[in-house]
Amino acid sequence: MKKPLAAVALATFLSPMMNAQTKPHLDPKKPIEERITLLMQQMTLEEKIGQMNQYNGFWDVTGPAPQGGSAEKKYEHLRKGWVGSMLNVRGVENVRAVQKIAVEQTRLGIPLIIGFDVIHGYKTLSPIPLAEAASWDLDAIRRSASVAADEASAAGIDWTFGPMVDISRDARWGRVMEGAGEDPYLGSKVAAARVKGFQGTDLTSPSSIAACAKHFAAYGFAEGGRDYNTVDIGNATLYNVVLPPFEAARNAGVRTMMNAFNLLNGIPATGNHLLQRDILKGKWKFDGFVVSDWASIGEMVTHGYAANLAEAAEKAAEAGSDMDMEASAYVTHLAQLVREGKVQESVIDDAVRRILRVKFELGLFDNPYRRCDEAREKTIGSKAHHEAVLDMARKSIVLLRNEGQLLPLPKQGKKIALIGALAADDNSPLGSWRIASDDHTAVSVLAGMKRYDGNKLVYEKGADLVKGETAFTKELVFNTTDRSGFPSALKAAKEADVVVMVLGEHGFQSGEGRSRTELGLPGLQQELLEEVYKVNPNIVLVLNNGRPLALPWAAEHIPAIVEAWHLGTETGNAVAEVLYGDYNPGGKLPMSFPRNVGQVPMYYGQFNTGRPVNTDQNVFWSHYTDTEKTPLFVFGHGLSYTQFSYQKLEVGRQQKKGQPVNVSVTVTNTGKRAGREVVQLYIRDVAASLTRPVKELKGFELVDLQPGESKTVRFVLTDKELGFYDNNGNYLVEPGVFNVFVGGSSATSLESAFTLE
Ligand code: BGC
Repeated sequence: MKKPLAAVALATFLSPMMNAQTKPHLDPKKPIEERITLLMQQMTLEEKIGQMNQYNGFWDVTGPAPQGGSAEKKYEHLRKGWVGSMLNVRGVENVRAVQKIAVEQTRLGIPLIIGFDVIHGYKTLSPIPLAEAASWDLDAIRRSASVAADEASAAGIDWTFGPMVDISRDARWGRVMEGAGEDPYLGSKVAAARVKGFQGTDLTSPSSIAACAKHFAAYGFAEGGRDYNTVDIGNATLYNVVLPPFEAARNAGVRTMMNAFNLLNGIPATGNHLLQRDILKGKWKFDGFVVSDWASIGEMVTHGYAANLAEAAEKAAEAGSDMDMEASAYVTHLAQLVREGKVQESVIDDAVRRILRVKFELGLFDNPYRRCDEAREKTIGSKAHHEAVLDMARKSIVLLRNEGQLLPLPKQGKKIALIGALAADDNSPLGSWRIASDDHTAVSVLAGMKRYDGNKLVYEKGADLVKGETAFTKELVFNTTDRSGFPSALKAAKEADVVVMVLGEHGFQSGEGRSRTELGLPGLQQELLEEVYKVNPNIVLVLNNGRPLALPWAAEHIPAIVEAWHLGTETGNAVAEVLYGDYNPGGKLPMSFPRNVGQVPMYYGQFNTGRPVNTDQNVFWSHYTDTEKTPLFVFGHGLSYTQFSYQKLEVGRQQKKGQPVNVSVTVTNTGKRAGREVVQLYIRDVAASLTRPVKELKGFELVDLQPGESKTVRFVLTDKELGFYDNNGNYLVEPGVFNVFVGGSSATSLESAFTLE
């Protein structure tokens, strides 16, 4: 029988009050810290440790076989209150089901926090994070994260395992697609924008989710670019390159961090006291919590850092890993370790307080189902979300080359041959990390180009890219033998005015566990490109990739090259708008593109060395004997359909420490179209107690200019930009000469200097 409406309303009104009397921690008027204390007073040791235990759900799997045991065991732990969080549970129905157990069947009814990898969107996908970083547009990046949060929260998710803020300079590493590239300054700005986008201004809002800066720390420096491999870096790199984006995320209010799989100078990040206790929770006063990476506590045994799982649990908890993702180390061993006196209960209390704090902040105690709303779930994939990801996709595209103004293409009266298996692919452009999106839901380049019907468009794939996947590792197997599609592709190319070729990596060639030793075009694509070039050199090459590629032949021969990454759901629409000039591209590379894999790690912020140039016409200088030492495309590079000129760089010459340094430059659109330029400012601290790189990005501004329009762009350099960390992590600002460079890429030559007294 249905309850009368008035009775339902009364019960709803009374229950928080009644709850607040019987369970005082549920009183929303009390301050959060007091509510945590009241709750913790009621918790047994096992219940506390339960909060530190996170299990994978029963559906998606994002790591090696779950270690938490059978589903029955997980359910049993859930009912006992021994699970504080679950990941990979999604959809209102599924989330509600597990949350109901936690809230209604456990002794204290503590809600779960539901985590999920919302990396570049939930169902409606924006470009991969590396691509988004190419926009340098922090407002757009923040909006993109907030659209992702909107969709994910509508599916019951409270917490994303993002943003990944790992700096990486090694294109072999598959996970460069998840980050913001090679530079700590840009990386820090993007990290903060993403955190703000996910978390919004009010964490209790049903459409906000908690963010997680990962992987703390140095995971992007895996030796040889091989995922999960050892990291051995000096303190100069740790403090000046690796840590700044994490600190920026912390300052932007990120509520959680994830540690990492890797060893850092001999100690697993997961068991690393210096990182988690001294720096993160000590120096930075971070009051959120740290989740381990998938089974990374257990992997400390495999690393050879703990003799068994119990010792791993002890070392991880002591080092500051608050929550155990899928290793079952804490739930199995921590209580005993406390009883034996090996782990202090205060360590447990600290971890639990941090976890509960975030749950309170998310409003989960006031309404555990606040992100379980069937009506909102139906808004996933709305028109507004599609428009938002399309906007981000346009802004992520980088025009690498445009000889003879081959682009934009005329809209009428031309014969265009579109070639390449990726051109018709509606799956690969979704990119890696897209668990909740449906396969084959991207707009392909072919579909996007068909919307422009003034030209005659002929499509030929030329050759399949992928043949299948290996049964064992599920890795892609490329077609290297079947050229049966070549003749018709060559015929179409010969008959066309312009050839558009879409080539590059498959969406699943980058991402976790997908490192490469080659950075060229896989399969038969390079051969196809060269064959087509022989019959028609009028080629626009559209690249799809999740990492910098090394394409020296293309950079020399192909007149127009468009970097289109994996742009997500709206890929084809964004690419077509750029090709036909309805959108003037303005993206800039967030990672240097090497000439070949032997140059890697490749980054602009290198050190000068003692022998940077060839002065004596001999071999004894820092170079390669078989290629240039410069990259193929530099960090910050990106062209437009218009041109920009830079004039009047002005810098106050003599400066006092502590006082801001004003820099200004005039930028003019000298071409015939409106366009966007990313004005970049770099410095070099010429002599310091710790040698500084030849260039360091310290500011950028986006300017939109009409043809003929000029703008004066102003930068202010403060101690925050002028200093660096010494090898003990102390921040220093030292007097001396600083060079200042301003321009449209890291290879800019407009230069001035000032002296800091
Ligand atoms: C990855 C993390 C991810 C986690 C949960 C791990 O394998 O390294 O980045 O958040 O799985 O899916």
